[in-house]
Amino acid sequence: MIKLWMAPAGLHIEPGRIADAKELARIHAQGFYRGWPVGEFESFLADDSTPVYVACDPKRRIAGFALIRIAADESELLTIAVDPKWRGKKIGQALLKATFADLLTTPARKMFLEVSEENAAAIKLYGREGFATISSRKGYYPKADGSAATALVMARDLG
Ligand SMILES: CC(C)(COP(=O)(O)OP(=O)(O)OC[C@H]1O[C@@H](n2cnc3c(N)ncnc32)[C@H](O)[C@@H]1OP(=O)(O)O)[C@@H](O)C(=O)NCCC(=O)NCCS
Repeated sequence: MIKLWMAPAGLHIEPGRIADAKELARIHAQGFYRGWPVGEFESFLADDSTPVYVACDPKRRIAGFALIRIAADESELLTIAVDPKWRGKKIGQALLKATFADLLTTPARKMFLEVSEENAAAIKLYGREGFATISSRKGYYPKADGSAATALVMARDLG
């Protein structure tokens, strides 16, 4: 089955491939204080329980991606990142909508995520896409200045 979803700015969304690992690590490192190694992305990309969705142009240049984990009737957004030069164009929104649509073909009926309470752009996006805060974890995200930010745990029903 070919999986393809429309995205803004002439992009589309499709499943990630092992060969994308290096580019995903590069985009991820631009969005987070602590990056993940390329090998970690290769492992996720090789595992059916951690699907990756990439937003790319017709030449398959990647603008952003979402990575989820599926476990029985639950799923978790492990990470989402959009290249800084592509942000604010609703690509993050399109990536989330693609995951929701694809998860309808799985047993997952709920999606969870964690986000720093200081990440206003992501919290706005998640709120707009139906996520609600269900709890919080103090001191969860280490910061460059040695302090740590609180994580909000958010959840959303899937169809
Ligand atoms: C979070 C992220 C994926 C959003 O991607 P995006 O393609 O820019 O998302 P969208 O354009 O769909 O929506 C972003 C929303 O945040 C808003 N926004 C952007 N910067 C903001 C800021 N500093 N404060 C508040 N809102 C902000 C945008 O206006 C937009 O809302 P709107 O459509 O109502 O105007 C992207 O900012 C990113 O990669 N950040 C770094 C990694 C990250 O934080 N990931 C989430 C971790 S849980």
